[in-house]
Amino acid sequence: MKIVILGAGGRLGAALLREYKEKHDIAGFNHAQLDLASLGDVRRILDAMNFDVLINAAAFTNVDLCETERDRAFVINAEGPGVLAEICNAKNAKLIHFSTDYVFDGEKRAPYTEQDRANPISFYGESKRAGEKNVIAVGNGHVVVRVSWVFGPDRSSFVDAMIKRAQQDEQINAVADKFSTPTYTDDIAQMLPQFFNRGVEGGILHFANTGKCSWQEYAQWALDCCRGAGISLKATTVGALKLSDMTRLRQGSGGQANWIARRPVYSVLSTAKYSELTGTAPRAWREAVADYITRFYSKK
Ligand SMILES: NC(=O)c1ccc[n+]([C@@H]2O[C@H](COP(=O)([O-])OP(=O)(O)OC[C@H]3O[C@@H](n4cnc5c(N)ncnc54)[C@H](OP(=O)(O)O)[C@@H]3O)[C@@H](O)[C@H]2O)c1
Repeated sequence: MKIVILGAGGRLGAALLREYKEKHDIAGFNHAQLDLASLGDVRRILDAMNFDVLINAAAFTNVDLCETERDRAFVINAEGPGVLAEICNAKNAKLIHFSTDYVFDGEKRAPYTEQDRANPISFYGESKRAGEKNVIAVGNGHVVVRVSWVFGPDRSSFVDAMIKRAQQDEQINAVADKFSTPTYTDDIAQMLPQFFNRGVEGGILHFANTGKCSWQEYAQWALDCCRGAGISLKATTVGALKLSDMTRLRQGSGGQANWIARRPVYSVLSTAKYSELTGTAPRAWREAVADYITRFYSKK
């Protein structure tokens, strides 16, 4: 199978490239090699290629910057995916496009299903939602996979920042009143090929590791796993911060930068549809985080 991956330099795209390069004929494009903001170039380069599956893991993911660079965010996160779907239609190829739990407003207190109404509260969420709609409007069996709190070895994320901080400081804190589910890039890479086939129905699909946690619980579990793996840390417990604090905290005081965009308080994704389609359940987030730390931190 010939697969093209966009965003191959990112956290998820790099993991997919690593995972599939032995088994498939893969071409990966990082940001410098293909800029989704230049849609003419995107058409010219991809039109000239042959592929069965196009995976779009590229996005303007800086949630705060999206608030101030709206035009750019809209081209990359909304218009770009629609153009990719059109390119795929012309080749009878399948598009797998990634989206986010941030399309929801976070008012629900039970896992969001694919049928729940998207109601973004940030421009990042709005632009990603528009991208989903553009892909679905072009139709033809393309898949939009919504994921949450992505972590993995290819690019540092929240969990890595927390571990680093715990290695440097005796006291660390994380937000205790914001909930979703960490999702391991390797688990996304393992499950995705089930949807490569053109015959598999398209539409929106939620995928995350199972369970739910706050950022404080997530960070605490990471520290516990580090201790279990014999990795020495200065901090052993994670203190609680409030989400409302994050708009005024400066980098260095709370582990996070000053926030501009609003974030959903609760954005757990239901994986019931995934389980129904595949007959399997994603593994629990604690297991996935423990696996990541054992594999990638024990060696550091
Ligand atoms: N990370 C999360 O927690 C999370 C949560 C929910 C959903 N998602 C979604 O998952 C997908 C993958 O995200 P990720 O975690 O892998 O984020 P990431 O590490 O930021 O990767 C995104 C990639 O897109 C590239 N990119 C940015 N602008 C581009 C452009 N104009 N043209 C081409 N490439 C461009 C970035 O390159 P540069 O860094 O060089 O700009 C980066 O390599 C995205 O669709 C994201 O919305 C992520």
